[in-house]
Amino acid sequence: MSHIAARIAAAVPADAGEIARLEAACFSHPRSENALREEIAQPERYLLLVQKRQGQLEGYVGLEYVLDEGYITDLAVFSRCRRHGVGTALLRELERRGRALGLRFLTLEVRPSNAAALGLYRGMGYWEEGRRRDFYTSPREDALLLTKYL
Ligand SMILES: CC(C)(COP(=O)(O)OP(=O)(O)OC[C@H]1O[C@@H](n2cnc3c(N)ncnc32)[C@H](O)[C@@H]1OP(=O)(O)O)[C@@H](O)C(=O)NCCC(=O)NCCS
Repeated sequence: MSHIAARIAAAVPADAGEIARLEAACFSHPRSENALREEIAQPERYLLLVQKRQGQLEGYVGLEYVLDEGYITDLAVFSRCRRHGVGTALLRELERRGRALGLRFLTLEVRPSNAAALGLYRGMGYWEEGRRRDFYTSPREDALLLTKYL
């Protein structure tokens, strides 16, 4: 890991390709580069934050928001960059920006088998508020609903 400071910023359209590559490496239903570019173009509804080091994408987090409600749509870090605090830094910055937007809470779905994500979310104060039966496919699994009030 280089010691050059990492930088978190709102995604720009040119980031869509790298984010799509990261999604494809992590998720069974990744979004296309075009779908991501459309989200980036709608800052009144979506917020995508990217962490880069020396211009290289390390991770990103996505938020969809309406009125005072925030839904975390995705969070992923390239495997070579994990366990160095990137996910934590992205969530912290998302929470800071969420407060500035006047959001009351952030909520998200996660697989019960995803120990890494659960460890991160629980450590940052996200609490289980429910479960959606058979929410995920490939493989089929329930989703836990986690929420943090800002
Ligand atoms: C979940 C994910 C984003 C975590 O990113 P990260 O940058 O590695 O997270 P951090 O380094 O900030 O970890 C913070 C804490 O989370 C927990 N954690 C992270 N990875 C873990 C793992 N593999 N096993 C157990 N706990 C883990 C630990 O408590 C960790 O603190 P520690 O390193 O001091 O022990 C990353 O593993 C990832 O991209 N996974 C694939 C995509 C995914 O599942 N996204 C979530 C969808 S809901």
